[in-house]
Amino acid sequence: TTATRELLLSRIRDVHDHPEPGIVFKDITPLLADPAAFAALTGTFAEMCARLGATKIVGLEARGFILAAPVAVSAGVGFIPVRKAGKLPGATLRQAYELEYGTAEIEVHAEDLAPGDRVLVIDDVLATGGTAEASLELIRRAGAEVVGVAVLMELGFLQGRARLEPALGGAPLEAVIQL
Ligand code: PRP
Ligand code: MG
Repeated sequence: TTATRELLLSRIRDVHDHPEPGIVFKDITPLLADPAAFAALTGTFAEMCARLGATKIVGLEARGFILAAPVAVSAGVGFIPVRKAGKLPGATLRQAYELEYGTAEIEVHAEDLAPGDRVLVIDDVLATGGTAEASLELIRRAGAEVVGVAVLMELGFLQGRARLEPALGGAPLEAVIQL
């Protein structure tokens, strides 16, 4: 609802010149510290999970973990961590993606996703879309189906939605707040 979005927006803090000059960092720690706001957000995500018929939730390290894990518990589905490369101990699938400067890599445990899984990806922010795009590649490579991507904030001016579009394969990208 509009009231929910306004509550959530009021709990996101703009931090200017972080982590470098000219960047406005969207700090979600005030939202996490407010139980009403945090519950409103996880409830919104859990509704999406049910509506999309997701059977697993993928959270993207690190801030995505904080949002996705309580949703998985409340929706009664499994939580699968997609981690920055080198952290997971088992056999993994690894995917590289481009950053503004350089590249990064993320990984998932290969055994955590399989054909038949219906996966909802959750993260805090969609910026350029590179992180989410790489996670969708991992999920598809594992043979699972992507049923949606849900983020708290979409930074529209960075065109992440357009970048993500091909990898979505028709699945919805749902942003609670458009900025
Ligand atoms: C941030 C944010 C998203 C991603 C969005 O993660 O949490 O995951 O960037 O950017 P993109 O759409 O351009 O890929 P980051 O890895 O910076 O930090 P975190 O570990 O704190 O989540
Ligand atoms: Mg992140």
